[in-house]
Amino acid sequence: MRRLFFFSNNKNKIIEIKKIFNNFNLELLSLIDLNISEEPEESGRTFEENAKIKSDYGFLKTGISCFADDSGICIESLKWKPGVLSKRFLNNFKSNEACFKSIIKSTKKNNKQNAYFKTSISLTMKGNQNVIFNGKIDGKISEQVKGRYGFGYDPVFIPKNYNKTLAELRTKEKNEISHRSIAVTKLINFLIN
Ligand code: IMP
Repeated sequence: MRRLFFFSNNKNKIIEIKKIFNNFNLELLSLIDLNISEEPEESGRTFEENAKIKSDYGFLKTGISCFADDSGICIESLKWKPGVLSKRFLNNFKSNEACFKSIIKSTKKNNKQNAYFKTSISLTMKGNQNVIFNGKIDGKISEQVKGRYGFGYDPVFIPKNYNKTLAELRTKEKNEISHRSIAVTKLINFLIN
C-alpha cells in the first residue's frame, strides 16, 4: 500500500481528509504517527506558498511523499481578507464568537455578503517534485452564528445554493462540497493515475 504523509496537526482537517481517503488504498500518516513536533514558519504570501513550505518540510524530515493544506476564508466586506492570515485574524479576538460578531457587523454595515473558502494542497515527492491542487467554495456570510459541527469559520459561512452554515453540516455533507474536498479529490486523482 502506498504511504503518504499529511503534514497537519489540525484534528478537524485530519478527520475530514481521512474520511475522503477512506475509499482509497493509501495509508495516511500524520505528524503524531511520525512523532514530529516542529513545524516550519508559514511565511508565504499565498495559500500555495504556505502549503509548499509545509509539504517540503515534511518530505525533508521523513523522505515520505508529503502533502500539506493551507486554507482560509476571504470576505468581501473585509476587502477579501483575511485570506492567508485567517488563523491570525481569528486568534486576535478574545473568542471565536467575538470574531464572528465582528465579521457579521462589517458584512451588514457594508452591505456586502459574499465570501469564499480556499484550500491549496501541496504535494512534495521524491526528487523534490512538487504539485499544487486548489479547491474553492463560494458562499456568503450568515446573518447569525449557527451550527456545532466543523471548525474555524464554519459557523458564519453559508455555501452558495444552501440555507445552512457549514457548521450545520456533518463531515460527510461538508465533504460533498467543501474547498478542502475539491482539492483533496484532485490530489487523489493525481495519485491513482
Ligand atoms: P490553516 O490552513 O490551518 O492555516 O487555517 C487557517 C485558518 O482558516 C484557521 O483559523 C482555520 O480555522 C480556518 N479554516 C481552514 N479551513 C477551514 C474550514 O474548512 N472551515 C472553517 N475554517 C477553516
